[in-house]
Amino acid sequence: MTLRNTGHRWGWVSQLLHWLILAMLAWLGWRGLTMVDMDPSPAMIEAYALHKSVGLTLLALVALRLAWRLFAGSPRPVPGTPTWQKRMADLTHAALYVLMFAIPLSGWLFNSASGYPLQWFKLFNLPAIAGSSEALADLASQVHVVGFWLLVLLVAAHAGAALYHHFVQRDDTLRRMLPQRRRAPGPIQQTPGGMA
Ligand code: HEM
Ligand code: HEM
Repeated sequence: MTLRNTGHRWGWVSQLLHWLILAMLAWLGWRGLTMVDMDPSPAMIEAYALHKSVGLTLLALVALRLAWRLFAGSPRPVPGTPTWQKRMADLTHAALYVLMFAIPLSGWLFNSASGYPLQWFKLFNLPAIAGSSEALADLASQVHVVGFWLLVLLVAAHAGAALYHHFVQRDDTLRRMLPQRRRAPGPIQQTPGGMA
């Protein structure tokens, strides 16, 4: 598998980041939704700290992913793709990037405006990106939650489109975002008259 994206496949860096970020988003969503209902306790503080550290890691990975995509290019549309489908896919991917930045940034903003400290896996502190403000904290918290549910909707549409391409249109759209399977070796060639 190639490192860089080619004209017809995503390379392994783009593939790894795509599926790793999906897994991290699923965990962040679950942790976010469950931690807000926890009773104040050391376990709750741990849960918040881990949610924030993993969320900040995701923010860095998304920046890396976008930079890599701009550097390594992207494959051409699968042959036969109508222009409207190409436009819809581009628009959806752009909106997914906007949300992948807006959600962690609004979390960071909420944290800063609420006056909470911010650490990355207890290793170092990160600066506040805004001063304390209740109004700003409320706004940031709303962007965080609404952004998350918008992301869920958009990912469902995006994954649905990928599965439609795979099972109904039977084209290579999904396969080119997955590791390439090695071709099975062909049948053993027999020389006429048995073993040479
Ligand atoms: C893409 C990454 C992230 C996702 C998908 C995500 C998702 C969520 C979700 C679903 C909630 C529950 C909201 C609710 O129902 O009230 C939540 C809450 C929260 N998140 Fe995130 N989050 C992310 C990144 C971050 C980051 C980077 C920070 C801080 C640096 C952060 C800080 C918080 C805080 C403080 C809450 C609690 C909000 C409240 O109590 O109202 N999140 N997050
Ligand atoms: C089960 C879930 C998912 C499936 C089946 C899926 C499938 C795919 C496929 C097949 C492509 C390649 C499209 C093409 O070559 O034209 C793709 C690209 C892309 N996907 Fe997903 N995806 C899923 C989840 C996600 C999630 C959670 C995000 C981000 C929130 C995301 C964001 C993107 C983006 C931005 C691209 C464009 C390529 C890039 O910049 O990395 N996908 N996806």
